[in-house]
Amino acid sequence: MTPLLLATAIEAALSAGRVQKQYFRSAIGIQKKGPIDLVTEIDLRVEREFRALIAERFPDHAVLGEEGIEIGSQFDELTPDLNSGDYRWIIAPIDGTTNYAHGVAIFCVSIALEIDGRTELGVIYDPMADELYTAERGGGARLNGERIHVSSCASIGDALMCTGFPYSVREKPGPLIAGFAEFMRISQAVRRLGSAALDLCYVAAGRFDGFYEESLNAWDVAAGALIVEEAGGRVTGTAGQPFTPHAGHIVASNGHLHTVVLSTLDTVRRGLA
Ligand code: IPD
Repeated sequence: MTPLLLATAIEAALSAGRVQKQYFRSAIGIQKKGPIDLVTEIDLRVEREFRALIAERFPDHAVLGEEGIEIGSQFDELTPDLNSGDYRWIIAPIDGTTNYAHGVAIFCVSIALEIDGRTELGVIYDPMADELYTAERGGGARLNGERIHVSSCASIGDALMCTGFPYSVREKPGPLIAGFAEFMRISQAVRRLGSAALDLCYVAAGRFDGFYEESLNAWDVAAGALIVEEAGGRVTGTAGQPFTPHAGHIVASNGHLHTVVLSTLDTVRRGLA
């Protein structure tokens, strides 16, 4: 892969982080995409700048962006053509928008590149911690340039787990709460940070031992899933299926705990927990 692709993703992520940090805890024009799903002017600006950079540097590449297909008519020019090329960038301009809008310093920008439908590159930047996570398929995962690896924890009782709740949580909270309760019962503790992309980076860095979530979008997980795999972890769907960022569900772990996480989710799904 040409080094310009990774360099572009890093350049865009650092630039996005600068903008996020500059406007953090200021008037950021919060709008609602749904009853509890927020978007800010910073999400829109970061995505617009990213699209402009890709259009200038790689005019034949497609972009799938969180805000380009969610916002009303004034942003229709951003709507991606999902089949328009073999190279497709996937961006969450702010992953953790609810945190950002409330002044909570847990958010990031997440950028992935799919080539022929497979994620080949992932870059996630947390500007508040100044932590840049990068991975190229087959090349390992890095945090600020240093190789990272998943944890070695092999006992669910010692595991720090993480999950998240989708914006549809109000419609059917029961199974999500049941899963949360079961992992609280069997693990050391469960966290809910509010940024799936950072949750995955924390698994890759060995801070969390496992993460699962339903009803996600490709921009939440495409980059992070590759970073976990390249850090030596395992990523599947929530029933153990081969992972695709477009399926909407994910289990990511250090590998040692994967089977127990899947079987716990299965127990919960069957109402046996
Ligand atoms: C959200 C975050 C959150 C997850 C939600 C996502 P957003 O992304 O990743 O952790 O629980 O399902 O939608 O809206 O902050 O970009």
